Amino acid sequence: MQNERTVWLVAAAVIAAASLAALTFAQAPAGSAIQFPAGYRNWTHVKSMVIHDQSHPLFNAFGGIHHVYVNERGMQALNRENPRYPDGSIFVFDLLEARLEGGAYVEGNRKVLAVMVKDSRKYAATGGWGFEAFAGGDPTQRVVKDAATECFQCHDSQQASDYVFSKWRP
Ligand code: HEC
Repeated sequence: MQNERTVWLVAAAVIAAASLAALTFAQAPAGSAIQFPAGYRNWTHVKSMVIHDQSHPLFNAFGGIHHVYVNERGMQALNRENPRYPDGSIFVFDLLEARLEGGAYVEGNRKVLAVMVKDSRKYAATGGWGFEAFAGGDPTQRVVKDAATECFQCHDSQQASDYVFSKWRP
């Protein structure tokens, strides 16, 4: 009798723990599932831009020198007229400090590494793209809490190019 009760108690505890784990997993923000884009420095460089002055509306968030990269899968769509990116496409926005030195802007420390990963089912609510950013380019320092308001709200304006701002120049 005593043993039977113990077995039931253990079973109940296991079920409770499993449900809790499932609940925690389901509630994890979508952004947290995005992997750090290891190896992106060997991908195709799309473009660069220097945002160097307060007068630019994006100065506070994106001031500095940034380079945009795309992986091979995304590259298949980037140079088309109305790009529709296949699942697995990845863009990286690599933002470094811009330091003025003797009349030249030179790269300083990395400020943030922003990433967009296409998975049309998983990220259906944000145009099929998952958004994440890693402070200082550190894979353990995730910064995006709500991709819809922090990232997609602005990328939403680029619907015609599948929510991607960058265009290909030969
Ligand atoms: C206020 C507008 C705005 C917000 C908010 C914004 N972005 Fe962007 N993003 C841009 C612009 C503009 C570009 C294009 C930069 C260029 O042309 O060099 C861009 C480019 C990118 C790119 C390269 C692909 C592309 O679309 O050109 C990635 C990756 C990216 N952003 C990720 C993010 C992430 C992650 C967030 C949220 C943390 C975010 N962005 C929030 C405006 C924004």
